[in-house]
Amino acid sequence: MRTGCGRFYGFGMTDTMTTTQAASPPSAAWLRVFALVYDPVLWLGEIAGLRRRRRALLRNARGRVVEIGAGTGLNAALYPDDIAELVLTEPDAAMRKRLARRLQRHGRGAQIVDAPAERLPLADASVDTVVSTLVLCTVPDPERTLREIARVLRPDGQLLFIEHVRANSRLLAALQDSLFQPWRRFAAGCCCNRPTVEVMRACGFAVAADDSVWRAMPAIVRPLSVGRASR
Ligand SMILES: C[S@@+](CC[C@H](N)C(=O)[O-])C[C@H]1O[C@@H](n2cnc3c(N)ncnc32)[C@H](O)[C@@H]1O
Repeated sequence: MRTGCGRFYGFGMTDTMTTTQAASPPSAAWLRVFALVYDPVLWLGEIAGLRRRRRALLRNARGRVVEIGAGTGLNAALYPDDIAELVLTEPDAAMRKRLARRLQRHGRGAQIVDAPAERLPLADASVDTVVSTLVLCTVPDPERTLREIARVLRPDGQLLFIEHVRANSRLLAALQDSLFQPWRRFAAGCCCNRPTVEVMRACGFAVAADDSVWRAMPAIVRPLSVGRASR
C-alpha cells in the first residue's frame, strides 16, 4: 500500500503523473503568504473545537517536550506549566517569525529550532513527548519523520497528535483524492488524503486515537484523528 505522498504518489494519483508533479515544493512567496493568513484561516476551526482539542491533548504532555512543525505557535500557551523543557521545531522562516512573536506575547519560555521533522538535531532517546498537530499531513516524508520521532523518543515516550486523515467514507476519500493537488498547492504541501494513523502503525507505533469532525473546516480535512502513539 502506498501510505504517503511526496516521494510516494498521493492516493488517487495515477502512475502517469510524475513524482515532480506530486512533490513540487510550495514556492517561497506562497509560504510567506500562507504564514500570514494561517491564523485567520484557522480561526473559525479553532473556536469551533480545535482549540479545545489542543488543550485536552496537551494536558498529557510531560517531561522534555518537542513539538514538530510548530507553525505560528497555536499550541504554545496550552502546555502545562510543569513540563521540564519545551523545544519548538519549525523549518519555515515566515512561520518561525510569528512563532517567536507569539512566545514573547505569552511570556512562554521555549527554544525555537530551525529543523525539518525528518532530521531533528536531537540525541537518541532524549525526549519524553513529541507533539504533532496538523504536521504529519504536510511533511514531505512521513515515514522518515515517524522513524525520526521513534529515534528521539525515550522507550516510555509518547507522540501526542491531532491530524486530519484520509476519510473512511469512500465518497469523501474520492473527493480528497480529486482535490489533492489544488489543496496541496493552497495549503503549502498538505496532503488531505494521507492515511496518517495507518502510516504510524506501519512504522511500528501503537496508536490509541479517536476520530471526530473538524467543524467549520472543509470536508476534505475530515476526519480529525486525535490521540497518543507509543513505540
Ligand atoms: C498546517 S501547519 C500546522 C502548524 C501547527 N502545528 C498548528 O497546529 O497550527 C503545518 C506546519 O508544518 C510545517 N512543516 C512543513 N514541512 C515540515 C517538515 N518537513 N518538518 C516539520 N514541519 C514542517 C510548516 O512549516 C507548518 O508550520
